[in-house]
Amino acid sequence: MSELSVKHLLGIKYLNEKDIQLIFETADHFKEVINRSIKKVPSLRDITIANIFFENSTRTKLSFELAEKRLSADVINFSAGQSSVKKGETLIDTVNNILSMKVDMVVMRHPNPGAGIFLSKHVNASIVNAGDGAHEHPTQALLDSYSIREKLGDVSGKNVVIVGDILHSRVALSNIFALKLQGANVKVCGPKTLLPKYVESLGVEVETDLRKALNWCDVANMLRIQNERLDISYFPTTREYTQQFGVNKKLLDSLDKEIVIMHPGPINRGVEITTDVADSKQSIILNQVENGVAIRMAVIYLLASKIK
Ligand code: CP
Repeated sequence: MSELSVKHLLGIKYLNEKDIQLIFETADHFKEVINRSIKKVPSLRDITIANIFFENSTRTKLSFELAEKRLSADVINFSAGQSSVKKGETLIDTVNNILSMKVDMVVMRHPNPGAGIFLSKHVNASIVNAGDGAHEHPTQALLDSYSIREKLGDVSGKNVVIVGDILHSRVALSNIFALKLQGANVKVCGPKTLLPKYVESLGVEVETDLRKALNWCDVANMLRIQNERLDISYFPTTREYTQQFGVNKKLLDSLDKEIVIMHPGPINRGVEITTDVADSKQSIILNQVENGVAIRMAVIYLLASKIK
């Protein structure tokens, strides 16, 4: 039987192309399951999973919880805001206390880059990174590539531009790793101040002219400005950002071809994309959310099969 090359999902950086294909093939099966009238399988009846979120989340948290419940795992949820972390408890103490309740897997979102990697070295459970600061968001990148594959048949050879705040985006980094592993051509587009200096060393090209980038691509993945991570002003005003890097219907309709629009959410409507673009037939934003459940079922199922 095929299995993942890793015990934890800490980042796309640690996966290989075969891992991604295995996750996609497993997600194909689970997507069929969640579209049946009985959406649940008994696969993980003996597994307990803790979702521990030290940062806000809507999509990722709900999607993981639903994926776990669809697999019949026992689920406990922990939000830092209502916990003893507020009283000074460390991350390792918090997680070890949760693990002593016989938890097998921890899904964690944390504001610090590398928090999942740190945890995987100190606790005896399978760790899934649900977003660590500006570092990686591996399940988001997997569901993004899976959605491209579903819409365009394949990821290999496709031109994908990631637009916006690349500097502070874990979605951008994980997408770059995932898309490059699968043979896509990747460009990033945004204000120079929001493009990391090292970005070209990841095998991507920089394009600061949005119209050129959109005319080149098959898929545009629009990112939100990560206001919660901005310590200084990276562009003069939001209005000017939108004029230069926002996508509206008029711009989309004036392109040489019809492109696919993606967004990981949450959307700031009227900033990076207008409502008529977000809700257009070119947008696959809600397909991404739907695919997130199947992808997370696949990841959890494959990692659970490695728990001794
Ligand atoms: N895409 C994403 O991570 O959304 P949430 O922050 O709502 O989980």
